[in-house]
Formats: sequence, structure tokens, C-alpha cells
Amino acid sequence: MVTTLGRTPHPINNDAALQMTEMLAPDTSGIARAAALLREGALVAFPTETVYGLGADATNALACARVFEAKGRPTFNPLIVHVPDLATAETLAVFDPVARDLAQAFWPGPLTLVLPLRMGHGLADLVSAGLPTVAIRVPAHPLAQSLMRATGRPLAAPSANPSGRISPTTADHVVQGLRGRIAAVLDGGPCKVGVESTIMGVAPQPVLLRAGGLPTEAIEAALGHPLREDTTPGTVQAPGQLASHYAPRATVRLNVTKRTAGSFLIGFGAIEGDISLSHSGDLVEAASRLFAALHSADAQGKPIEIAPIPTTGLGRAINDRLSRAAAPRP
Ligand code: TXA
Ligand code: MG
Repeated sequence: MVTTLGRTPHPINNDAALQMTEMLAPDTSGIARAAALLREGALVAFPTETVYGLGADATNALACARVFEAKGRPTFNPLIVHVPDLATAETLAVFDPVARDLAQAFWPGPLTLVLPLRMGHGLADLVSAGLPTVAIRVPAHPLAQSLMRATGRPLAAPSANPSGRISPTTADHVVQGLRGRIAAVLDGGPCKVGVESTIMGVAPQPVLLRAGGLPTEAIEAALGHPLREDTTPGTVQAPGQLASHYAPRATVRLNVTKRTAGSFLIGFGAIEGDISLSHSGDLVEAASRLFAALHSADAQGKPIEIAPIPTTGLGRAINDRLSRAAAPRP
């Protein structure tokens, strides 16, 4: 069964697809519809045992960019990738023996592991915000499991709330925050755990990055020793910290409308460059190409120049990332 929760259509923008969010029932046809939307690159919120996730095909850069747009996130925080089982996770990330033991002990369940990306992983750059690592989790919720298997793609999913608001534990919470900004919500009733997953880094030493739904004591019992904590807010989430993992080697100059001889120009809209983030000036497209553009610019070994990017919508996150890339190096 599908019901449609509409906003009163805006008098100027009557695009029904933008105004509507489908509420999908937790049955075979609801799951099939959700999977089809995800495979097309649309956003679908789905229940996990912790909180509702805002799902996108993690291999589709545009879909991942839409996640940041829908949430109104001012920065590109890395997203957690959801897969149905350990075997699928091993195609995306490199597991050492400790990581594999933890996965076997606690997956499926509310534990997220931050691991090195595997060569040929196929994930969009935006998922890991340009880092060489990826956060992976295998949710236990049966609907999440059915949806991942029906979609056949890894799903990037932050909590399904607007940035800075409370995480959603019912489909109604999701709709209140994101109605009209996502294609659909798969309604699985209230989430059991109600807080986000516990996040751990594994290499070189196991470390707790975010306390969450899996108690630390359970992890320590599995490890056989106390777990070091590194949950200071700056450590994982601060974009400054994340930025230090990837800054181009070349100098970066922003808001360039006229190129300097010998530079490599990343264009946007009317400003043509050696490459363009978006010829049509589309900020979602620009976000989806940002990290790849910085990588290919850096490979040229020339000073990098970047056309002005508007500071509206996803432009805020793009400019945040660019100003970090342009900041003086230590
Ligand atoms: O329970 C949960 O974990 C929920 C459900 C939907 O699965 N998801 C969730 O996602 O809480 P989100 O986007 O709120 O959490 C992402 C956080 C980032 O802010 C960062 O702290 C950490 O995961 N993270 C992701 N990738 C990382 C990486 N490569 N290195 C370090 N931290 C990472
Ligand atoms: Mg969140």
C-alpha cells in the first residue's frame, strides 16, 4: 500500500515529485518500490534497529550529494555505509583479524566499524568525504535487511533528520522533518534501540569513536581488554580534522573568475574550466563531482583555481570543503 503525504503545492514550483513523499508499507510491494527508487538514485528513509536512516545508493555520487542537500548539512561529514552481511562488507573495506572478530561477534547489530577502503570498492567519494577509510554497518532490522537485499547496492544512510535536529525513531518523525525533500519512507514502526550505532576505529588499535547502541562493556568483553576512547567531538566529526586527511598538494585559489596562466581551473556554471563541477550551475551535481575534481586537479601538478560557487543550498558545504582545501598548510 502506498499513501502520499503532500505539502500544499508551492504556487510557483508545482513539480509534484519534489513536493511529495511516499509512505511505504512494510510489505513486499513497499520494499520493491523502495528498492526501485533507490536504484534510480532517489532518497528513501528506512528503519534500522537504532534510528531511521536516510538511504541513498552509496555507489551513486548524485544520490549521495542529495543526502547532504535533503539534510541541509553545512559540511560533508562522511556517511555510514549499510550492507546486509560481512561478506558484502569485505568487498568494500579491508578487515584485519580484530575487525573480523568484532564483526562476527556483533553483526548484524548496532556497531559501525571504520576501516580502510578496499581497492575497487566502487563507492562514491562523497560517502567517505575523501578519506581513505569508510564506516560500515550491518543493521539487524529485518526490513533494512530485506531492503538492502532487494536493492542490491550498499546504502549510505545518515540519520533521517534535518541537520542539527533530533534523530528520528518513527516514520512520522522522518516525515515531519523531511517531507517533500525525499522520495519515500519505509514505515517499520518505532526503532528498538533508539540511539545511533556505536562507532569504532580498528587500525592500528581498537578505539571508540562514538558511544552508541552497543554498550562498550560488550565490546571490551569481546576484545578481552579495555577500549580506548576517542569520543571528543573534534576527533571524528570536526571537518578540520577530516580535512587534514585530504588537502591537495598544489596551492588552491578560490573565487577565480579569470584564470592565471599555467593554472588548472575547476569551472562552475558560466565559468569554463579545464573541468567543470557543473556546466549548468547545478549544486547537487557540483557536490557529487567535488572530490573527484580535486583529485584530478591535484594530479596535474599545477596551481589549482576554482570558480566562485554560490553559498546557497549545497554550496555551503562545497565552500566549506574548498576553503579547507585552500587553507594554509601546517
Ligand atoms: O545508527 C546509526 O549509525 C545511524 C543509522 C541510520 O544506521 N546512522 C548514523 O549516521 O548515525 P550518521 O551520518 O549520523 O553518522 C556518521 C558519523 C560521522 O559523523 C562520523 O562521526 C562517523 O560516522 N564516520 C563516518 N565515516 C567515518 C570515517 N571514515 N572516519 C571516521 N568517522 C567516520
Ligand atoms: Mg545523525
